[in-house]
Amino acid sequence: MTPQKSDRFAFGLWTVGWQARDPFGDATRDWLDPVEIVHRLAELGAYGVTFHDDDLIPFGSSDADRGLIVDRFRKALDETGVVVTTATTNLFTHPVFKEGAFTANDRDVRRFALKKVMRNLDLAAELGAKTYVFWGGREGSESDAAKDVRAALDRFREALDFLAQYTKDQGYDIRFALEPKPNEPRGDILLPTVGHALAFISTLEHHEMVGLNPEVGHEQMAGLNFVHGIAQALWHGKLFHIDLNGQRGVKYDQDLVFGHGDLLNSFFLVDLLEFGGPDGTETYSGPRHFDYKPLRTEDTDGVWASAAANMTTYLLLKERAKAWRADPRVAEALAASKVGELSLPTLNPGESYDALRSEPSDVDAIAARGAAVVALNQLAVEHLLGAGK
Ligand code: GCO
Ligand code: MN
Ligand code: MN
Repeated sequence: MTPQKSDRFAFGLWTVGWQARDPFGDATRDWLDPVEIVHRLAELGAYGVTFHDDDLIPFGSSDADRGLIVDRFRKALDETGVVVTTATTNLFTHPVFKEGAFTANDRDVRRFALKKVMRNLDLAAELGAKTYVFWGGREGSESDAAKDVRAALDRFREALDFLAQYTKDQGYDIRFALEPKPNEPRGDILLPTVGHALAFISTLEHHEMVGLNPEVGHEQMAGLNFVHGIAQALWHGKLFHIDLNGQRGVKYDQDLVFGHGDLLNSFFLVDLLEFGGPDGTETYSGPRHFDYKPLRTEDTDGVWASAAANMTTYLLLKERAKAWRADPRVAEALAASKVGELSLPTLNPGESYDALRSEPSDVDAIAARGAAVVALNQLAVEHLLGAGK
């Protein structure tokens, strides 16, 4: 279970670099140099690294310092072969964003936010990132009186249309990925789920270059099934990126190690991503990006152990999913549950209304058929527990 570059695992600088400051407690770990992070990730077998502008270049750095920091970072990338897959903007830490960024009531904030994104888009393109993530952590409210949601959505759309046009005009080979989240740090965040974001994207001027970056825990914070959300994103052709982690139920954003939340859902997620395409091919070819936070209890060794844990778990689930698909008992159970039959169109080609109407339905007999779902699910549990044949 040693990760290889071909596994396409990526980590944010802010994940392993998190110093574990939370609303109740101070940092429990020292600052980690992004250059060291790149080297350690490479040793662990990671393929990519991602960052917010401020993770790499502290807010307010001089142009001279910025240049030095970028040069050192680029040298680390060259030395290790680690690639920048993705970048994003911190539009949430600085107090200027306390009431929002693209959707702040204060127009001056919105104008500053656009400039901050443009500047980091330039760096993202320079470093070769192909995806630019938009997580609107502060786009929301705590009071329904304090935010005109329809105007906020107009401004959100204005920002994305403007930035997409900028990206095209510069000739950057970058697509946008919106990351939904229902709450935290705001009481309620705009575009709270995959479904809300999909509907919003369809209204954008350059909708073809905008997709999603769904995060496991964020959908689960809303009580939703992540596998269903990902399947629908795939169905719309909008799974541009993914944030893998763990979450235990409807509560604050835990950002646990991948698989340390709902393990069975993680199993079916890996199965969908890796083998859900035609003839068992992958459905998603982008980075397998871990957006987690090493627990506040861990020291620096624990940070690297937790980074490795994400990748090991993913690879184990991939192995288990492969074995599950190859098991003849699973094939039999899938047939008994008629899972494949759902791919048959409900109507015959060219069937008339009358042909359908005149067909007799033996409703009692149909209703009496069992769907044999528990046996199928139990086989997944057994494979997950290593008890597969
Ligand atoms: C979260 C968010 C963020 C975003 C990241 C990109 O856990 O709420 O993950 O981690 O993914 O900041 O902007
Ligand atoms: Mn999260
Ligand atoms: Mn995320």
